[in-house]
Amino acid sequence: MTPYITEPSAWQESWDRQQEAYLPDREHRFAAMLDAVDAVTDGAPPRLLDLAGGTGTISLRTLHRHPDARVTLLDLDPALLALARASLAERATVVTADLARADWADALPYRDFDAVLTATALHWLPAERLAGLYAEIRDVLRPGGIVVNADHMPDDGLPELTKRLTAWARDRRDGRYAAGAALSWSDWWARAGADPTLAPLVAQRQEIYPTGHSPEWNPPVSWHLTALTAAGYTEVGTLWRGGSDAAVVAVR
Ligand SMILES: C[S@@+](CC[C@H](N)C(=O)[O-])C[C@H]1O[C@@H](n2cnc3c(N)ncnc32)[C@H](O)[C@@H]1O
Repeated sequence: MTPYITEPSAWQESWDRQQEAYLPDREHRFAAMLDAVDAVTDGAPPRLLDLAGGTGTISLRTLHRHPDARVTLLDLDPALLALARASLAERATVVTADLARADWADALPYRDFDAVLTATALHWLPAERLAGLYAEIRDVLRPGGIVVNADHMPDDGLPELTKRLTAWARDRRDGRYAAGAALSWSDWWARAGADPTLAPLVAQRQEIYPTGHSPEWNPPVSWHLTALTAAGYTEVGTLWRGGSDAAVVAVR
């Protein structure tokens, strides 16, 4: 049964602030991703899959643009899924599945999406698994549909500048924490774990993700473009770049 969460929008807000401390240009990438979706559907309400969608950030922004969009959110984290269900209510289909398993798509309500969008998530998966997942995503897209993956994807040609950009971003982030402008990843989870409604779900999460965070495997953008090409897409390229992050896109 879905637990009753009193203020899902407040949890969403604190999640957004926590994520923006790592990704100050987070909204820029989401806007670029949703612009690409609009280009593919000619502005019609999309059939969209928010893959590893967490609390529902991409789903909420999609529904803000297109209240009639058919949105599906997929994730594995019971606490984030509960927040997504509370925020999205009847406006989206929310499903539990493990992207580490090749049968994840069995959880989907249908398989002809206009777009699969995913952000800051697939670096949780090892290389061979992500290469396989790119091919499996292709199979749930309609012809002409797109997948966009925004994540930490350094530019291969800028190794030293990337280190400097990363150090600069860390200093800015530390400044935000010092000023109390945002919670860190671990502090956000400690806060969620102290909430009586979320606490049992956070305990379940700890069994699913024993370390509590990703292995931080961040290959360069060229790795993603090669893997997407090998997965059989007709067009592959970089949609957006910001610092050491990028969004790669592929067209079925
Ligand atoms: C940093 S969060 C990003 C969430 C959301 N995309 C956003 O930008 O706010 C990473 C997400 O990846 C999900 N995730 C990691 N490994 C997964 C897996 N094997 N299957 C499904 N979801 C997974 C986590 O549960 C989490 O919701």
